[in-house]
Amino acid sequence: MENEEVRIDPDAMYGNIFHIKDDESKNLYEEQTGHIRMAGCPFPLSIKKAEFAYIYNLIVEHNLRTGYECATGFGVSGLAAALGFKHTKGKLVSMDAYIEEELQDASKYLDDDTFIRTLLDSKGYKSAKLLSETFETQPYVEFKIGWSPKDVSTVIESEHSEPLDYVFIDGGHSKSQIIKDTTAVLPYLNPSGCYMVFHDLWDSLVDKTKLEELLHGEISIVLPFPEGENLGMIHYKIA
Ligand SMILES: C[S@@+](CC[C@H](N)C(=O)[O-])C[C@H]1O[C@@H](n2cnc3c(N)ncnc32)[C@H](O)[C@@H]1O
Repeated sequence: MENEEVRIDPDAMYGNIFHIKDDESKNLYEEQTGHIRMAGCPFPLSIKKAEFAYIYNLIVEHNLRTGYECATGFGVSGLAAALGFKHTKGKLVSMDAYIEEELQDASKYLDDDTFIRTLLDSKGYKSAKLLSETFETQPYVEFKIGWSPKDVSTVIESEHSEPLDYVFIDGGHSKSQIIKDTTAVLPYLNPSGCYMVFHDLWDSLVDKTKLEELLHGEISIVLPFPEGENLGMIHYKIA
């Protein structure tokens, strides 16, 4: 297969994140109920190991090239995608407002369209850059600071002139915010095929019926809890 030499073992790569240390040899990342978090920072939490492998494999197996994710957190889901794009020679643009690490309480910012974040020195942003340097994925991922839905167009258009074939939604977890995040990307999806992945598809957090109406299809739970965190996927296709 083309580019076979850069295929990696995503499980091993996920495990390697725990070995990254700061200048004083202290671990920068720690495990939290199957997720990763930045040491000493209870939130945000990353995707789980099986989800990391799922994202990597999805991109490699379908030869995806144009990706967008909301949101970065501190760079773990973006690393999985960027490793996939390293294989396919594609690119991810990843956006976050870096608010969860500061407020530490999701209920404080849910649905708050007036919240504007411009914290360039946030821990999450620095971590995302560090992960991409450590695993040599810099050419395959760009990290942007922005608020969904307001900044989605600007962020996607800054990196992609072709329609998206990969989207990951894992930002504010409320029924209305996920609809806003999804509506904002609709004009950018490749009508002949886009793999859309959603984190935390819990009934209490997501209006799945409304989401499926928007996307003209059925979302499958590909990694139910506890292996994943109810990771959902739909192959969006309208042409
Ligand atoms: C669960 S974390 C993302 C984890 C990341 N996907 C990973 O697995 O590595 C959720 C992130 O969404 C961000 N966020 C929440 N609402 C947002 C919004 N409306 N626009 C941009 N970022 C948002 C938070 O700052 C937080 O970093």
